[in-house]
Formats: sequence, structure tokens, C-alpha cells
Amino acid sequence: MISKLNTIFAKHQHEPGSLLPILHDVQHALGYVPEDAVPLIANHLNQSRAEVHGVISYYQHFRTTPPPKHVVRLCCAEACQANGCNALFEHAKLQNIEVEPVYCLGLCTLGPAMQIDELKLHARVTPEKFDALIKALGDES
Ligand code: FES
Repeated sequence: MISKLNTIFAKHQHEPGSLLPILHDVQHALGYVPEDAVPLIANHLNQSRAEVHGVISYYQHFRTTPPPKHVVRLCCAEACQANGCNALFEHAKLQNIEVEPVYCLGLCTLGPAMQIDELKLHARVTPEKFDALIKALGDES
């Protein structure tokens, strides 16, 4: 982690206001912003840990824990809401599956729509179909 941080620090060496670009690069390189990185970033920028924590917690984009192996996104835009995406979110919560809300996956007439990782789109997702897709992920691992 330290060598990656040093590379990122060097990249933004002469950039004023480089906290956000550094946090973005750390998350891109490591998948999240580890707690151990906060004092190093704060020290590098001559800021307090609280200031760095404040920025991390302000932006929902930043993760402070490692990302899940698979990213599951459910569309919660209007058309998918009309077709039951809220019930699917509740269903996912009960299964302890981390789901990110997105706003339109381009399958509006075939909702609720779901995306697994970056490219796999699924239409007309029911709780049963959701469970089968999640089970298949586990079988792939
Ligand atoms: S509204 Fe859900 S895919 Fe467009």
C-alpha cells in the first residue's frame, strides 16, 4: 500500500487542492480508502486526519472497506419502481446482499433491471431470479 500511495503522492505533488484527486486514485488503486492510509494522506498534505476523514465520509463514492467480489446494481428509476424494484431491494437486504442503486440501465420496458459487475444486465428480475443470479455468482467463485 505504501508504494502505491507514494506513486499517487508523486503524481499530485505540485497540485493545489489535491486531496480529492488523491482519494480517487487511492480508491482506484486499492478498491477503497483503507483506514491506515488516512494518516499518511493527512501527513502528506499537512492536514489533520479529521479533515481527510471529513472528505471521505462526505462523498458517498468513497469506500472505507474492501469492495465485494461482485458488484450488484438494481435500477430504481421510475419505470423499474413501477415494476417492483423497491421490493427487490428489500429482498436483497434480507439476503444480506450489498446492492447499489442506479438510475436506469436502459431496460426500462423490461424492469426491474439489474446489473452484475460491469456488463451483465438482467431484465424482469423477480426475487426468485435474483436469488438464482446471486447463487450463480457463488458457484462461479
Ligand atoms: S428505469 Fe430501470 S432500466 Fe430504465
